Amino acid sequence: MGTVPSNPSWNPLMPNTEFISTGFHVPERVVTNNDLAEFWETSDEWIQERCGIQTRHWTERGGETGSDLGLKAAQSALERADMDPSELDCIVYATLSPEHFFPGGGVFLQKKLGLTGIPALDVRNQCSGFLYGLSVVDAWIRSGQYRRVLLVGAEVQSPALEYDYPEGRNIGVLFGDGAGAAILGPAEESDRGVLGTNLFSDGRFAEHLWVEGAGMRRYPWVSHEDLENRKLYPRMEGREVFKHAVNRMPEALSALMEEHGVKAEDIDLLIAHQANLRINEMVARRLKLRDDQVYNNIQRYGNTTAASIPIALDECARSGRLNRGDLLALTAFGSGFTWASALVRW
Ligand code: ACO
Repeated sequence: MGTVPSNPSWNPLMPNTEFISTGFHVPERVVTNNDLAEFWETSDEWIQERCGIQTRHWTERGGETGSDLGLKAAQSALERADMDPSELDCIVYATLSPEHFFPGGGVFLQKKLGLTGIPALDVRNQCSGFLYGLSVVDAWIRSGQYRRVLLVGAEVQSPALEYDYPEGRNIGVLFGDGAGAAILGPAEESDRGVLGTNLFSDGRFAEHLWVEGAGMRRYPWVSHEDLENRKLYPRMEGREVFKHAVNRMPEALSALMEEHGVKAEDIDLLIAHQANLRINEMVARRLKLRDDQVYNNIQRYGNTTAASIPIALDECARSGRLNRGDLLALTAFGSGFTWASALVRW
């Protein structure tokens, strides 16, 4: 455990936000790199060497949706907290893979939880979605607006991969499906909970990692031509994303560490968004963190976008890798470009 001082701005009327519990769920179907090599020209060796991924979980085609996975993750978090869904007073749902153009996925999760009336906010900041959501939830809880908030990152990305198209391998080998959930509330002690968050974006890079259509920028908003030109699939300039990710995540976290007087040796655990193991190795090196200060699970789940941080959090919380009083650092980078970080006294 580090020696970082508690939040100097703490006051009982504006308590810190603490993680009450976490949960996660991934679909049963495990897809290996060799499975992918059956329809894309790729190999286990290429994928492991460039990305570190060995397996990912995909839903059955036409099977579970994001809110189905989110429901199971939420139920696991509720059970761990010994809470009934009726005790929740807000839902924040982060995704890049919405079930429908509208409404957002949060209300589908709300319905499945059997809740009515409470707000359900959708966060559409892709890989940074969980940390953007955490920042909003932290502000609400500190201000006293809500006391029990369910924050979910949920993704079903496998339907949007181009299995029948050679270029589909570029993105297809990276993504996995899954959901992670956290229940957050006011901390009783001044020295625990979310110490701070920071958020960034740079829209100049919006088109470097995106789905061009369908969308209301186009008329008609979806067309046969769009389908033929494969405009409904994600496109990524991989090297550009890599270059920015390895700079922006350490920059964001270093700025937050400086603001809170945290040194590299104070950090008990870093969980970075699981986009690529090579990115995360470089981020850890730039932050001067040892291997034992860092947790990665992309090897088993691939890139689950907004779900990757809460899935890793729950694994660490349940396995004893993350203990009460530990100083936890979180950081993410993704489409937008957006990036973010957080420091949490667990
Ligand atoms: N299997 C086999 N070969 C492949 C594959 C594949 N899956 N993908 C590309 N290749 C080939 C290319 O065609 C190219 O062949 P060529 O040299 O004959 O032209 C060669 O491998 C190198 O291709 P690059 O795209 O230059 O490969 P790179 O080393 O950049 O690695 C990668 C690609 C892994 C995608 C890397 O750029 C990366 O990790 N970028 C960041 C990705 C990322 O983190 N995205 C965020 C995800 S999105 C989000 O989280 C919202």
